[in-house]
Amino acid sequence: MKDKQIEKLLTAEKRRQQKVVNLIASENFVSSDVLKVLGSELTNKYAEGYPGARYYGGNEVVDQIESLCQARALKAFKLKSPKWRVNVQPLSGSPANVAVYLALVPPGGTASQGPASAKATVGRGKIMGMSLAHGGHLTHGHKVSITGKVWQQVPFGVDEKTEVLDYEHLSRLAKKEKPQLIVAGFTAYPRRINWQKFRAIADSVGAILMVDMSHVAGLVAGGAYPSPFPYADVVTTTVHKTLRGPRAALIFSRLEYADKIDKAVFPGTQGGPHLNQIAAVAVALAEATRPEFKTYAKQVVRNAKALASELKRLGWRLVSGGTDSHLILLDTWMGGQGLSGKEASDRLEAAGIIVNKNTVPGETRSPMDPSGIRLGTAAETTRGKKEADMVKLAQRIDKILKK
Ligand SMILES: Cc1ncc(COP(=O)(O)O)c(C=O)c1O
Repeated sequence: MKDKQIEKLLTAEKRRQQKVVNLIASENFVSSDVLKVLGSELTNKYAEGYPGARYYGGNEVVDQIESLCQARALKAFKLKSPKWRVNVQPLSGSPANVAVYLALVPPGGTASQGPASAKATVGRGKIMGMSLAHGGHLTHGHKVSITGKVWQQVPFGVDEKTEVLDYEHLSRLAKKEKPQLIVAGFTAYPRRINWQKFRAIADSVGAILMVDMSHVAGLVAGGAYPSPFPYADVVTTTVHKTLRGPRAALIFSRLEYADKIDKAVFPGTQGGPHLNQIAAVAVALAEATRPEFKTYAKQVVRNAKALASELKRLGWRLVSGGTDSHLILLDTWMGGQGLSGKEASDRLEAAGIIVNKNTVPGETRSPMDPSGIRLGTAAETTRGKKEADMVKLAQRIDKILKK
């Protein structure tokens, strides 16, 4: 490589990744094929539009790539065309979610024409989503995100005592607020979600049900977490977490919503698709349909359960008492008897274990120095770790945090 400065940094990052134990719940290690395709000539190609309807010439190859990626995405989640369509162009999870809202919840605002008296503020569309502090993502309507500025979030959280979702409460909230769209999904919630109950709640108020399965997509593909597809109208997902692909996102939708969503992705919120990324997504999706991936997904959950139960045995408090997925929320603060999330994460990093600090439900500290840390087993399971390794890892974490 001619650029020695970047080459040196690349080598340093590669070494860092090799050296540490990676418990970041949203990260993973992609295959060498995925890496190869990301760095291919496809990065040179512009192809605004969709297969067969582009604004640029020279698409005979990239049209095939995008169509293949779409077919593999539907296959990976056992979906049939034309009942379901998938848009494979979202550059990442956040723009994918924005595109869905733009398509399905027309943004309100101030009428810009006519006399002053006519410039009434049209009400913002309502999106009911999990609040950040309880495990939702910023793009589920948080006020610092465009999703909370253009749309109005109806936030929901977990039950104070059980720290799991209370569907009765959600149902009452939906009936009171009448959101146009409900987002079911999370970034830091360790339990299974009852998609069917979300469907019933959405139906009771005539809302669209969108599932953001970013965290558990790989587990869904591998049969280790319930599939939202029988219940959702729209499913968004990042590709780079448990699904073990490149940084990218997918939007699956039932046919009636698909045209609007395609228009909201391009030209609504994006320009030319990143075809190197789309080809790499196609590679990852083919990998996710192999039998080995089923074994992998099940092992991810087994590993998380083993890590959780050993941490619990050692006296740590886990939010909701455990996990049904790849993800654990550890309350390191324990009402002031332990460490803040930042201190815990810093100590672990100094010992070569990478996690992220995280708020816990009912957080009493600040987001920059919250009460907990989030752990995930997707990346280390890719490296071949099993339950016995997780037990040892829990003991190591316990020693580092209790030092
Ligand atoms: C549930 C969920 N949705 C969306 C996103 C956004 O993805 P990205 O960081 O690719 O924009 C994340 C990322 O962590 C997430 O956890």
